[in-house]
Amino acid sequence: MVAWMVDSTEKQCMAALACAAALGGLHAIYVWHFDRCLPQGIRYRTDGPFGRNGHYVITDINVVKRNAKVLVHPTAGARVYMGGMRETNILCSPAGLWERQRAIIHPFIASHARQYLALLQQTDLTLPEADDVDLLEAVGGYVSHISTAAMGLTIKGGFKWGNVSRAVLGISTLLALGVPEGLLRAILRLVLPFTHLEQQIAKFVDESDSDFVCDLITEFGRHEAIGHIWGIVNGSIIPETNIICSIMHDIAADRDLQAKLYDMVCKDTPETVVCNKSFEAFIAQKCREHAFFRSTSRVVQEDFHVQGCTIPKGASMRIPIAKFNDSSGTGLTWGFGPRSCPGAIIGKNIVKVTVFRLLRSYSIDLRQEPFKLKTDTVNMYPFGMRMTYRKRSDQTLVCDDEQQ
Ligand code: HEM
Repeated sequence: MVAWMVDSTEKQCMAALACAAALGGLHAIYVWHFDRCLPQGIRYRTDGPFGRNGHYVITDINVVKRNAKVLVHPTAGARVYMGGMRETNILCSPAGLWERQRAIIHPFIASHARQYLALLQQTDLTLPEADDVDLLEAVGGYVSHISTAAMGLTIKGGFKWGNVSRAVLGISTLLALGVPEGLLRAILRLVLPFTHLEQQIAKFVDESDSDFVCDLITEFGRHEAIGHIWGIVNGSIIPETNIICSIMHDIAADRDLQAKLYDMVCKDTPETVVCNKSFEAFIAQKCREHAFFRSTSRVVQEDFHVQGCTIPKGASMRIPIAKFNDSSGTGLTWGFGPRSCPGAIIGKNIVKVTVFRLLRSYSIDLRQEPFKLKTDTVNMYPFGMRMTYRKRSDQTLVCDDEQQ
């Protein structure tokens, strides 16, 4: 195309550009008209103004509830990156394969909930002795220890939070600039074997004698087993760290809220706080507000009908979790249906106990407002979140009602 334009006359170039613009315009009119003809509760969008690939967006939670049976399997999207570039990792695997993976992975996670909780209750979270801290680094290090040790995996040198958020930012920027996704994935697959996390996870899979890892290798082979561990590691540490830090951000920015919450939990221990109903309600509300997966995707398994309109098998669907959480009183933070998060109880406990530990031991302030990327699809702080803090003295560990 570029070579043709170099050889062509100015008139030919202008004519070609006018044709392209006219085709783009016609396509936009078609999409606009198609969208207008859809019933309430469902919309049609393309990827970008002239994007050829379209997807439906569900805007009424009742459409999700009524059709949950045919909205089971997600499209690959960002989940491939979270699963160490393996297209078949548990976060995005297709029908047929997923059922076999689920039979091994979900029971393993469910049966380890107590182990995660015990480790969480035994492990202190101590902020470094400095003026201020990047809370994302501190929390990322803490939750990564909990989330991997319970599986028997030790990441030497820890989970490098800064690298993860810069990788997410870099990949999102390249995709937004129009770099073809196939090319980007091919490059990342070449680079991946040299990364710290891939090396650690591969070593774990090669050396572990746990039944879980052996079952994964026997059933799906080494390559895919590594992808599942990537999926579980990233699928737990990244949302937990982001949600915890978003909650701490709100607490640090509001002194009254901080004092009220401190009062709510000051008599608790990491063991009793999991049963503190008021604190549970606060955390549940905040998890809805700061859902990490801001939207989820599905490939329609069978045609379904919304007010006489047919949504065809194979269509791509977007379900805006954050919008539903805000408006419908429904909590979709941990997904919905058979593909919802098997680690939801573990995740909720990790968020609850970690926020409790920080609140109980430290008085926290924001050093500066962090740069935040909170959109319909992502919730992250790519350049960290700096906080100043003061360890609470024994004096301040006494609750307000005891002081009176
Ligand atoms: C704050 C913490 C967490 C949040 C917000 C979260 C959220 C989610 C969401 C939204 C999904 C996708 C559901 C869908 O698309 O409908 C998911 C899937 C998944 N999560 Fe979590 N999760 C968290 C913690 C965990 C933990 C602790 C584990 C494991 C120990 C875990 C393992 C998984 C797995 C394996 C899947 C894929 C399930 C499947 O497709 O069968 N997650 N999570």
